[in-house]
Amino acid sequence: MRISTSTIVATLAIPIITASSKSVPFAPSSDPGVYPGGDQNPPSGWSTLPDIDGARIDNSTLRVGSGSATLLHYIDANYNASNIKRAVIQIHGENRDAWNQWIYSDLAAKRAATGGSFDRDEVVVMAPMFLTTLDEGAYPFDPNQDSGNKVTTTIDTGATSSARQGYVQPTGFAASPSPALEGRSFKRRGKYPVPLQKVSTTQVMIWKAIAWGEGAEAYEPVDADGAGSFDALDAAVDFFLDKTRFPQLRNVVVAGFSLGAQLTNRYATFREDTSEDDRIIYWISSPNSFVYLQANRPLPIGSSCRDTYGDYKYGLNGTLPRYVTRSDKQLSTSNLISRYLGRTVYYLVGLRDKSAGLDSCAPNSQGLGHLDKMYYWTEQIVPNLPGSTGVDGQLPDNNLMRYVEDTGHQDWKIITSDPGVETLWLKQWNADGTDANAPQSGGTVAGQTPSSKTIAGISNGARAVGGKGTAMISAALVALLVGLVL
Ligand SMILES: *[C@@H]1O[C@H](CO)[C@@H](O)[C@H](O)[C@H]1NC(C)=O
Ligand SMILES: *[C@@H]1O[C@H](CO)[C@@H](O)[C@H](O)[C@H]1NC(C)=O
Ligand SMILES: *[C@@H]1O[C@H](CO)[C@@H](O)[C@H](O)[C@H]1NC(C)=O
Repeated sequence: MRISTSTIVATLAIPIITASSKSVPFAPSSDPGVYPGGDQNPPSGWSTLPDIDGARIDNSTLRVGSGSATLLHYIDANYNASNIKRAVIQIHGENRDAWNQWIYSDLAAKRAATGGSFDRDEVVVMAPMFLTTLDEGAYPFDPNQDSGNKVTTTIDTGATSSARQGYVQPTGFAASPSPALEGRSFKRRGKYPVPLQKVSTTQVMIWKAIAWGEGAEAYEPVDADGAGSFDALDAAVDFFLDKTRFPQLRNVVVAGFSLGAQLTNRYATFREDTSEDDRIIYWISSPNSFVYLQANRPLPIGSSCRDTYGDYKYGLNGTLPRYVTRSDKQLSTSNLISRYLGRTVYYLVGLRDKSAGLDSCAPNSQGLGHLDKMYYWTEQIVPNLPGSTGVDGQLPDNNLMRYVEDTGHQDWKIITSDPGVETLWLKQWNADGTDANAPQSGGTVAGQTPSSKTIAGISNGARAVGGKGTAMISAALVALLVGLVL
């Protein structure tokens, strides 16, 4: 298809497709991301941080918490803080490609600017890097301090950060400090024995596995004084909200995709300071789970998690992050609910995103893929929280939901889509709260709320025990038969 179209255009030299989405500036038709080494999620981590046109890497400006930790991030190479009206903090998913998040959000900002309401240099993009211990080389390390890269069962040492203390790694597997995550670690990481990591020689924050997505403390640096990923976001958000630095800034958008969206949902639940809530927009796209604030779940609770499905990170039971428990102002559940409902939250998910990041008992009670998880959360769960609208499908006024057509679990496509541009850059642009003018459509548009039948199809289809195996076998049979017939 693609070949023949371009051949026709080249041969006839007639601009017959100039009206197509491909001609809209800054609307990519494929992933514009950069992947050093060629793998989108290298199992052994990133060994370099690529240089990106228009952005620079900053590893010292954002001091986090009361220790000496910093949050490494990509940010516009040049911007004049006095002119900035909006900042977007674009948070990567599990694969930690901060540079790509900067690229995508920059493209979305540039297209938003073609609507005519503002110039690109009135906004700034920050893309934090939640490094993990796999990413040696992307962070500098001491080549002389390691354990000979042997797999180890414990990594407790004398001088440790509190996140590191008592942490036990199951033999041969990477794991997260949270018991709730161990299933995940085995599933997704189990194939890769993780050596005892070398010691970082930098103050940038580094986490274990996917623990950053739930607000966990950083594993390094040793003198982080218990700071975790919620503290890191506090530092980033407060950096922009500071009027002495950004005197014209109206809104900061905390935007996360996938595991970054999990972090954003939990941050919107727990961020301590409420005084600037009218200037913060939480942008949550395609998470594999939410932190549920009540005991009910949209889908049946499997027998293996009957007593634990509500443990953090999936609910408020169990052990909450230190960011929450250390506070002397710890909130009751009803206070957490009204705080969450009081915040401005935009939700997005691709209409084709039926995949799940993790297929296990507790998240499965929230839905079986990213699409139905988002549907249940925004159609049933949030509307029926105490103090919410009380009407299925009706979110509070300060929330909105955008389903994105023709899109799977694709960060680049969501961020640069029409609804991505709208929610990141146009919504509430003006000082009076009205929106900026929309640019020409880039071709990837908002779709209808899926029918409950479509959603039930996802939930039922994948739920039956052995359902996937059966489906695969039937698919294989069909393929075989088709092959025979042809
Ligand atoms: C930044 O913008 C302000 C206000 O427009 C201007 O006065 C100042 O000169 C600019 N600074 C730089 C370094 O361009
Ligand atoms: C942080 O920046 C310093 C100075 O530019 C550099 O030497 C160091 O390697 C950087 N660390 C990371 C993790 O990028
Ligand atoms: C949370 O724990 C309490 C007390 O153990 C229990 O009664 C409740 O059902 C749990 N809730 C969830 C959602 O797991």
